[in-house]
Amino acid sequence: MKVTVYSCREFDEKELFIQYGKELGIELVLCPDAPCMENAALAEGSECIDILTSKMTEELLGALKERGVRYVVTRTIGYDHIDREAAKKLGITVANAPYGPHGVADYAVMLILMSIRKMKRIIERTNIQDYTLQGIQGRELKDMTVGVIGTGRIGRTVIHNLSGFGCRMLAYDLFENEEVKKAAEYVTLEEIWKQADIITLHAPLTEDSFHMIGKDTIAQMKDGVVIVNTARGGLIDSQALIAGIESGKVGAAGLDVVENEFELYYYDRKSDVLNNRELAVLRGFPNVTVTHHMAFYTDECVKTVVRDSLMGCRLFAEGRENPWEVA
Ligand code: NAI
Repeated sequence: MKVTVYSCREFDEKELFIQYGKELGIELVLCPDAPCMENAALAEGSECIDILTSKMTEELLGALKERGVRYVVTRTIGYDHIDREAAKKLGITVANAPYGPHGVADYAVMLILMSIRKMKRIIERTNIQDYTLQGIQGRELKDMTVGVIGTGRIGRTVIHNLSGFGCRMLAYDLFENEEVKKAAEYVTLEEIWKQADIITLHAPLTEDSFHMIGKDTIAQMKDGVVIVNTARGGLIDSQALIAGIESGKVGAAGLDVVENEFELYYYDRKSDVLNNRELAVLRGFPNVTVTHHMAFYTDECVKTVVRDSLMGCRLFAEGRENPWEVA
């Protein structure tokens, strides 16, 4: 069987694809570019294609179908970039390739620690041989209350990771989880705003959760609250966060995701004038750590995603049950 892999990254994916392709007996066409009308012909003879987060429109899916494609797997957890209605109409199966929660959960804990220990300022100082102490005193997690919003795969792992630090943990989710209750106490969102010294977000972005942290909710929070977001940028109103930091209400933030990050992240844009003022302002604060949506990015994650995306193709081709099919 043959699989055409689009958006194949030379520096970390290519070798893994070659290795797993051999192990699974799959012939591969490796293309560094995202799928588009111009390169749809590369899928000729491939029943399955393997993609990243590129938009899969009805037109593009139709062009791929004409080349014989019957299965599209995305090397991501989310699959909202694929027009699933169109795929269904065309008889194309859609699948994903999720990775474990540990990479993001570890990263969230790192951002919490970096925020409460003022690590951005410390690194900036040591880089210029400023070895003073004033302004970089930290706090200890054991004296703090952490509010975890969203106790799914990642939120639960964060709670597990934090349980050795001795902090008090509060949790909020639409659905309570028995495992979580052993280490954290479920409370209302209002109680999280009122009691948490640190708030870490692990809920998906939905109509309900959009801007769940905004002007009104920040006003209810403790003075000096630390906000960590490794979930989705849209959960936080960036303008409100900036105002909160400027007023001192928000003591620090660790942001792996921000609003309107598309078309910025994963590209080299250092010579460009960017049109995301909020990102520029947030990045400039000494108490805000911004990273480019990379909490997931570990050796384990890349390996799992490459392997499982190809395994799904193999199962599909053999007509076997496939745990990764989503539509
Ligand atoms: P999950 O689906 O296992 O858990 C999400 C939890 O959030 C569920 O328990 C759900 O009931 C809860 N939830 C849904 N709406 C909610 C609301 N309005 N308020 C509170 N809780 C709500 O998802 P998982 O894998 O734990 O992912 C969590 C977040 O992390 C997602 O936003 C995902 O997009 C993001 N993520 C970020 C990555 C990064 O690299 N920064 C990588 C992977 C995921």
